[in-house]
Amino acid sequence: MKIKQSGIIGLGAYVPKKIVTNFDLEKIMDTSDEWIKTRTGIEERRFVEKGEATSDLAVEAAKRALKCANVSIEEIDMIIVATCTPDYQIPSTACVVQKKIGAINAAAMDLGAACSGFIYGLTVAKGLVGIGTYKKVMVIGAEVLSSILDMSDRNTAVLFGDGAAAAIVSEVEEGFGLLSTHLGADGDLKETLGIKSGGSLHGTTAATLEGKEHFLRMKGQEVFKFAVKALPTATLEALKLANLKSEDIDLIVPHQASRRIIEAASKKIEVPMEKFFLNLSKVGNTSAASIGIALDEALEKKLIKKGDIIAITGFGGGLTFGSIIMKWCY
Ligand code: UT7
Repeated sequence: MKIKQSGIIGLGAYVPKKIVTNFDLEKIMDTSDEWIKTRTGIEERRFVEKGEATSDLAVEAAKRALKCANVSIEEIDMIIVATCTPDYQIPSTACVVQKKIGAINAAAMDLGAACSGFIYGLTVAKGLVGIGTYKKVMVIGAEVLSSILDMSDRNTAVLFGDGAAAAIVSEVEEGFGLLSTHLGADGDLKETLGIKSGGSLHGTTAATLEGKEHFLRMKGQEVFKFAVKALPTATLEALKLANLKSEDIDLIVPHQASRRIIEAASKKIEVPMEKFFLNLSKVGNTSAASIGIALDEALEKKLIKKGDIIAITGFGGGLTFGSIIMKWCY
């Protein structure tokens, strides 16, 4: 069987309107704009208003991606929503999106790989389109991380924001699209980033609520150490699979978690910082949405043109990591 070449034929992103600056956070917790900017590069992030859910952000991003790809919603045969902040445990957020957007011909599922979710989702889409199971797959990374932040925990609350991005993956001309993908995971580090209660192991009780175990917790330094190794490893492995070298990369769009992590990765893979696209100062870390939101902004700023070699690379809870090398299709 001949594997079809697949790629992103349209992209869209959406962030909620409410801007929360570092100065706003200074007013509610023991932190400072200076600390947050120096340690991460983040200056502000977007938070949803009450009642706005992950699916709402996902739908807005999806509509923009469909428009960009010039594809009708009826053509979508599969919706994958990568998220760690689903609307509900059941049903999947993908099913909620499917209903809200009227994707009557689409199967729908959520994917859990935290901040690597967009890369994992694109990899699944590449497989599904590649072997001809589906023609058009919508991959969405969407998060309302503000819903799992403990605003009294400065270790995590200052880092994250809300947002969504969507990509339409379809067959593309030979030599273009998703050239290679490298994914990985290290479950040994599962304790470094996560939510302790509310799952099947420790269900929600009055005691878990009292202990604030339904909020996201992170061992920042351990995640940092993992990230500075995982980002370069994933990118270099994906490059090798695509038969390309670091100098072939035109633009690299990393997970927008921390400027320091990205600077360390830049040195290791020998790609200068000028080739990294960063928008974390304005949106913070939006987990599964982060790479897609940044990619969309880079396109809007006309930093990407047809034929460019684009690397996307990320890491996140699990811990997971991954990278994809693309030859841009439009
Ligand atoms: O998508 C995956 C997301 N996760 C990440 O990317 C996290 C990766 N980790 C990091 O980027 C860094 O570890 C952080 C930015 C989270 C923290 O930076 P750090 O240089 O590792 O700081 P630290 O945790 O060693 O803390 C240094 C000090 C501590 O005070 P003492 O013990 O030295 O007095 C913290 O209590 O900074 C304090 N601190 C803060 N101070 C002001 C921690 N958070 C804050 C804060 N504001 N928000």
